[in-house]
Amino acid sequence: MKKLFIQTYGCQMNLADSEEMAAHLAARGFELTELLEEADLALVNTCTVRDHAEHRALSLLGRLRRWKREKSGRRIIFAGCAAQRLGEKLKKTFPYLDLISGAKDIDSFSTLLDKSGLFPSVPGAGNNAAQPGVSGYVTIMRGCDFACSYCIVPSVRGPVHCLPSADILKRAAQKAAEGYPEIVLLGQTVNAWREEGKTFADLLNEVSALPGVERVRFVSPHPAFITPEFLAAVEHNPKIARHIHLPVQSGSSKVLKEMKRGYTRELFLEKVDALKARGFAVSTDIIVGFPTETLQDFEETLSLVERAGFSAAYCFKYSPRAGTPAAQMKLWDEKTLEERLDILLNRVRGLAEAAYQRQVGKPVQILMETPDKGRTSDNFWAQTKKSYTIGTMVQSQAQSAQGTLLLTRD
Ligand code: 5AD
Ligand code: SF4
Repeated sequence: MKKLFIQTYGCQMNLADSEEMAAHLAARGFELTELLEEADLALVNTCTVRDHAEHRALSLLGRLRRWKREKSGRRIIFAGCAAQRLGEKLKKTFPYLDLISGAKDIDSFSTLLDKSGLFPSVPGAGNNAAQPGVSGYVTIMRGCDFACSYCIVPSVRGPVHCLPSADILKRAAQKAAEGYPEIVLLGQTVNAWREEGKTFADLLNEVSALPGVERVRFVSPHPAFITPEFLAAVEHNPKIARHIHLPVQSGSSKVLKEMKRGYTRELFLEKVDALKARGFAVSTDIIVGFPTETLQDFEETLSLVERAGFSAAYCFKYSPRAGTPAAQMKLWDEKTLEERLDILLNRVRGLAEAAYQRQVGKPVQILMETPDKGRTSDNFWAQTKKSYTIGTMVQSQAQSAQGTLLLTRD
């Protein structure tokens, strides 16, 4: 058997795409290894949302030059969003690359492998199915119809393409039958999913009713589709996880407008309040140092963080992306970006611990990921007194919190 080493950068959709590519390569006789030294094929699945992510992938590609020379027959595949953005011009800098497969090529990856002539099918070859863990990922849509002024995703991934619900349900049922009790639905703007006669909430409810499905999560939603109708349709379904990752990006209505996010600070906070009133923990993404962000705007972000009571916040320095409208604007200097990120991170640091403290005394439903640890429905990490089989759902109560760990009474 030949060996395949995969390095994945970026979001959960990329992890799901890497799994899919690994399955196609398994049919061509490649089994997974965690060690680059023993691999015959290196697959680098990339992200381009910020310059830093792209840079890391390119620097790995640089290092692979030597790796490839060390043993004859070694191959390199460069895939994902950075591959989509840079395309064939990568071959100029990295002539030793064997195959480029952009993010949009994921559905034709197998055909690309065939066309290259480098990876013939091996009759009877095994599969690369990972040991079933707890979460089974199912991509339900790709692309984005928004046009946030800082974001490269719409140009790299293209417009929204929704998978048919019949295919999604089949895939989710398959995952559940393989032993994944939690199904995570994935998409760049996952809750933009739609189908004639069916809403995203309908889909969530249908997936949650499949045999073997204990819990359903979804990433990443856009605030535009968190409506009263959506909340009414999911709030009484306990299998839909009580956590939502809802990127806000800025706390200033002025900056939100310039980012073209389509909502104001007040509207976002209304949505957070509605979610929290129904028991959802809310986490978020924030960008600091958008070109038009004044000190006052930045302070509004700080105050929004306090007001919203997020359970977590991922914070990023603004990174200009070629071809986006914001890339034309005057940038803040690196020192300002660093300072703002530092201040925000300091504010955010206590958020998770405070959210954990707020859980003490509450009932928890833990899906076990190790014999004594798992995640609650609202996405808190919890430790049980007794040991349980991985994948079981444990009902208990949070007795105390130690940093970012709940200790239960079970
Ligand atoms: N610069 C910095 N952060 C960005 N993100 C998206 N585009 C950029 C950019 N140009 C962040 C957003 C998004 C997350 C996935 O990445 O916060 O929610
Ligand atoms: Fe990018 Fe905005 Fe689309 Fe999210 S909604 S992928 S930030 S353009």
